[in-house]
Amino acid sequence: MNVFAGGTDRQLAWEELQRRVESCSACGLCSTRKKAVFGQGNRSSPLVFVGEGPGADEDEQGIAFVGRAGKLLTRILQAVAIEREDVFITNVVKCRPPENRTPQTEEMMACNHFLEAQLALLRPKIVVCLGNTPAKWLIKTSEGISSLRGRWFPWRGIELFPMFHPSYLLRNESKKIGSPKDLTWHDINALRKRFDELTKGGPSS
Ligand code: URA
Ligand code: URA
Repeated sequence: MNVFAGGTDRQLAWEELQRRVESCSACGLCSTRKKAVFGQGNRSSPLVFVGEGPGADEDEQGIAFVGRAGKLLTRILQAVAIEREDVFITNVVKCRPPENRTPQTEEMMACNHFLEAQLALLRPKIVVCLGNTPAKWLIKTSEGISSLRGRWFPWRGIELFPMFHPSYLLRNESKKIGSPKDLTWHDINALRKRFDELTKGGPSS
């Protein structure tokens, strides 16, 4: 493919990548998935969200973050006037791990080239890692999300920003000072601020 890929080549590259994800059989997850979940959203967005892997609703529909956690993610974004259609949303693994277990290292390794290809096409300014799995996987650290969240990690010219996973917030309802929800409120505001600094305007500028 032409490295200076313009509109049409880019479009073809996306289509080819999506076809490969949807027909992938590189790890065992393909035998239990209903639908592979490629990810969706604005392919020109400087802001990308990476979750862990599809859950039951995502596996049914083939769309990332459409279940309860996804609905909460939508509300968190709306709190700082970001519409989910304006960002790109995907996961570390594209197929649902049975019983929503954490993806195994072998599964993440088998799937990683898809995420890499997506990020190469997107060339975002900020990648938000939702929860432990994407944060540890991309930053290559054993540190947990509680210490990683709300910090900026330079990564190949991109800024990685870990936040709590919305599923974790659903299990921790408290809004007291220092609670996961309270910290997430701070994080999403910090994200909005940095996003504005980096884009000096709207998502397409
Ligand atoms: N949790 C995730 O990590 N990803 C999804 O797409 C849905 C729930
Ligand atoms: N575990 C996770 O994977 N993510 C969180 O946000 C919290 C705990």
